[in-house]
Amino acid sequence: KITPVIMAGGSGTRLWPLSRKSQPKQFQPIVSEETMLAETLARVTGDEYTAPAVIGSVPHRAMIEEALPAGAPVVLEPFGKNTAPAAICAALLVAERDAEGLVLLLPADHHIADIPAFTEAVSRGVEAAEKGYLVTLGITPEGPETGYGYIKGGEKLTGGTFKVERFVEKPDRPTAEGYLAEGGYSWNAGIFLYRASDLLAEAEKLVPDMLAKTRAAYDAGPRDGATLTLPEDLFAEVPSDSIDYAIMEATDKAAVVSPVTIGWNDIGSWSAVKDFADPMVSEGSIAIDCENTLIRASGDAPMVAAVGLKDMVVVSTPDAVLILPSERSQDVKSIVEALKAAK
Ligand code: GDD
Ligand code: MG
Repeated sequence: KITPVIMAGGSGTRLWPLSRKSQPKQFQPIVSEETMLAETLARVTGDEYTAPAVIGSVPHRAMIEEALPAGAPVVLEPFGKNTAPAAICAALLVAERDAEGLVLLLPADHHIADIPAFTEAVSRGVEAAEKGYLVTLGITPEGPETGYGYIKGGEKLTGGTFKVERFVEKPDRPTAEGYLAEGGYSWNAGIFLYRASDLLAEAEKLVPDMLAKTRAAYDAGPRDGATLTLPEDLFAEVPSDSIDYAIMEATDKAAVVSPVTIGWNDIGSWSAVKDFADPMVSEGSIAIDCENTLIRASGDAPMVAAVGLKDMVVVSTPDAVLILPSERSQDVKSIVEALKAAK
């Protein structure tokens, strides 16, 4: 069986003011009425999976344990070291039960509209993962976005998978445009399938220092039931890097399932939320003659009443209100920076 391991340690500032450091987007109902973590968990409940595990951060412990079935494994990081150490922890966790066990490493903050297609895509990757490949899902690119990994598929392997000829994390815009013009590239969905032993072997080869230090923290971590907390002093020693830069760009054992058509979106901005949100106007708020406008008032926030808005986003929270044309959604970054500077 496949063990789903969800990475829930990100901070998600682009969805301010709903997503905050203390309560980032994965713990919020963003697209539907369920939190993004709950949506992610619901996606991996089929017979092919064991109970899911979560790797997240210490201050979010209560929210993580509440979302999970009782007794599900949790690894808590005292601070974020990006996704490579998290991927290693996921492998160590699964290897405790079965070194050859398959890990499905998932981000906690994506929306996937077509769950049967997602399940099918994962199953297409199983054979390659069992042959020792680190498998990722490749999405047909929709534009020269610079926030994604780009994958060039090569030789055909089994079950609709291809060997990765080239993996480039977050290329600059001209490079991304070049890839699209050249063709044959997918976006990395950020969802990985691998055997625990293979990820550990690649980490040993490519980032031995990170592996040794992560393992030391993992082995020392005090356990409270199924929850393991990585000790601050040891985890502080671990270098910070993403799985994409540290492993996927460098390994010669990467494979991609591509293309996968699963209604994938990484919900990186309010305009992406607007594209998927159901409902568009949250309960208790009023929108009259509004067109293509997202109106969100979180539980204890003032309701919103709007008339005649078009292509707008309005987000009301107890202590802050955001109003912007949805095409300016990327500029939320500037607000967060301005707020940080003002502190
Ligand atoms: N446990 C833990 N610890 N989780 C983390 C940490 C950490 O330090 N940092 C990030 N995460 C979680 C986030 O919550 C998110 O669910 C996931 O790991 C991915 O991290 P992001 O920081 O959102 O990565 P990204 O969006 O910049 O890039 C990745 O995803 C893209 C697709 O959305 C890469 O894999 C890209 O190649 C990919 O295209
Ligand atoms: Mg992301």
